[in-house]
Amino acid sequence: MERTLVLIKPDGVQRGLIGRIVQRFEDKGLEVVGMKMRQFPLALVQTHYSDHAERPFYKDLVAFMTSGPVVAIALQGNNAIEVTRGLMGTTNSAAAAPGTIRGDFGMSFSHNMVHGSDSPEAAAKELGLFFAEDGDLVDWKPCTRDEVYNAAEEL
Ligand code: RTP
Ligand code: MG
Repeated sequence: MERTLVLIKPDGVQRGLIGRIVQRFEDKGLEVVGMKMRQFPLALVQTHYSDHAERPFYKDLVAFMTSGPVVAIALQGNNAIEVTRGLMGTTNSAAAAPGTIRGDFGMSFSHNMVHGSDSPEAAAKELGLFFAEDGDLVDWKPCTRDEVYNAAEEL
């Protein structure tokens, strides 16, 4: 099972979308293994987005992501990184496909409500940043897992 980091960005929190966004991931069969709400410190957000440090939008992005509360979520599932980004939709919400979070709830490129790790390396880095304390991530087996997945098809 793969793990990935999702952030509900300040626009998603302010708009009252926390529940509906989390619902999308739960409905799909992804397992929530960590969740915390914080106004995260600047240094943490700068490190999170360090790959974009040379991009012209970096300063505004970091300012936005520290402007208010954010919900960090750790999700688990087979192919969780790709599945999660599929549910989110493309970066520009206005162009994102209907049925995706960005496609259904947004109109903006920067206020696009969610972040999702884009590779196993990014997921490891980002989960380590946002869920750094002992106990932040919970190992558990939902009683629905054996119905969501079919073990026979994975043999
Ligand atoms: P994310 O990292 O938030 O999951 O989104 P993403 O992979 O779809 O987009 P990415 O290229 O990683 O960009 C990170 C976030 O920066 C903002 N952005 N603004 N030209 C711009 O003004 C611009 N480009 C990117 C978006 O909020 C994007 O989600
Ligand atoms: Mg990205």
